[in-house]
Amino acid sequence: MNAPAPLLSPAHVLVVGGGGRENALAWALARSSGVEGVWVAPGNGGTAELAGCTQLAIAETDHAALLATCQAQHIDLVVVGPEAPLAAGLADTLRAAGFAVFGPGADGAQLEASKQWAKALMVEAGVPTAGFWKANSREEAHAALDAQGKPLVVKADGLAAGKGVTVAETLEEARAAIDEIFEGRFGNEASLVLEERTHGPEVSVFALSDGERMVLLPPAQDHKRIGEGDTGPNTGGMGAYAPAPLLDQAGLEHVRQLVLEPTLKALRNRGINYRGVIYAGLMLTESGPSVIEFNCRFGDPECETLMPLLGPELAAVLLACAQGRLDQAPALSIAPRCSACVIAAAEGYPGEIRKGDRISSQLISSDALQLFHAGTRRDEHGDCFSSGGRVLAVVAQADDFDAAFEGAYAGLAQVHFEGMTYRRDIGHQVRSN
Ligand code: AMP
Ligand code: GLY
Repeated sequence: MNAPAPLLSPAHVLVVGGGGRENALAWALARSSGVEGVWVAPGNGGTAELAGCTQLAIAETDHAALLATCQAQHIDLVVVGPEAPLAAGLADTLRAAGFAVFGPGADGAQLEASKQWAKALMVEAGVPTAGFWKANSREEAHAALDAQGKPLVVKADGLAAGKGVTVAETLEEARAAIDEIFEGRFGNEASLVLEERTHGPEVSVFALSDGERMVLLPPAQDHKRIGEGDTGPNTGGMGAYAPAPLLDQAGLEHVRQLVLEPTLKALRNRGINYRGVIYAGLMLTESGPSVIEFNCRFGDPECETLMPLLGPELAAVLLACAQGRLDQAPALSIAPRCSACVIAAAEGYPGEIRKGDRISSQLISSDALQLFHAGTRRDEHGDCFSSGGRVLAVVAQADDFDAAFEGAYAGLAQVHFEGMTYRRDIGHQVRSN
């Protein structure tokens, strides 16, 4: 008997995760051709508001319950948003049970989950990246630092939710960062990478891969620092815009050939069938693009910024990636527009945050303006409250960046919660005012 023909587009989709990224993914997938229903686990305060979406109170760590949901809802495609469940092997578990999953297995997720592993892969692939030294003990790390005699970038090896990197200005700061890693979660078992500091603007590039082939999304620029003028501590990202003019079509093609294709090939050489996002965080240095980091998922808030630009083929393209047949997928249409995203964070973010504030919103989403929820929850009366560091993402699209940011900030003026914190200068690189 012949195997049944693979589905062209999924009817039932499960999105795993509960941040702004997953809210945007669910919204975009629910709008995709052929999609009849999207289930989101665990979702957030915005999930149930999205047309066609159902929220499930299942944690991303509960692999058994997620598998049972796939079976009960006849899920055709699972899209795993965050890195932690990918590194924990959720995609492996669901694939082993026969489900199509967009997101790498635990083997491929090491691209993000281990800096040492990722650096070794980059060297193997010949991908440009800053010079580095590995260390598996505090003594080894200090010795490597002393041998260099200059402040280096200190990177904890494991998943650190955006908090594992210190760009040290002084040797003392680098020493303190090393000590902090060995006094932290993994104690003496910790490991790290010391890296040469590189300079230049940063841009994020996302490749959707089926293990053999890839489709690139428009490059996006994130704003990592909490403060205006790119000052203060690092955050998960306070806003973004796309397409980042830093990389034009030729620049993006160059990155494909220089970074993404060799990386995918090196993954294949290790026997890894990588079906998901390869997120390259690049620094555009004087000597060309250099990989700062790889992630195994969409960026947040880059995902919120990009999703509104993508066409209704998205679900079919992600399914084709999950099935290893991107060559048979419809072309992913990308609106030739500018997209601008501003994050509203809780007071105190990225430090100790204020939570539990009621969110009021007059914002009505349209084709050119979206409100995505991140750290929010609803109470039993349906009222919405802040519950995380990054609370909301407002995203707008227009023909130029001035109009897109005007739209995003006008949208932001229609939402409120006590202590709402945001940067007014997101997109300063591309705005004329
Ligand atoms: P990450 O937590 O891996 O996203 O890194 C946080 C930030 O640290 C990056 O966005 C860069 O701004 C900075 N960074 C990481 N590696 C380097 C490096 N080698 N040189 C300069 N800055 C770096
Ligand atoms: N916005 C950066 C990240 O998702 O890692």
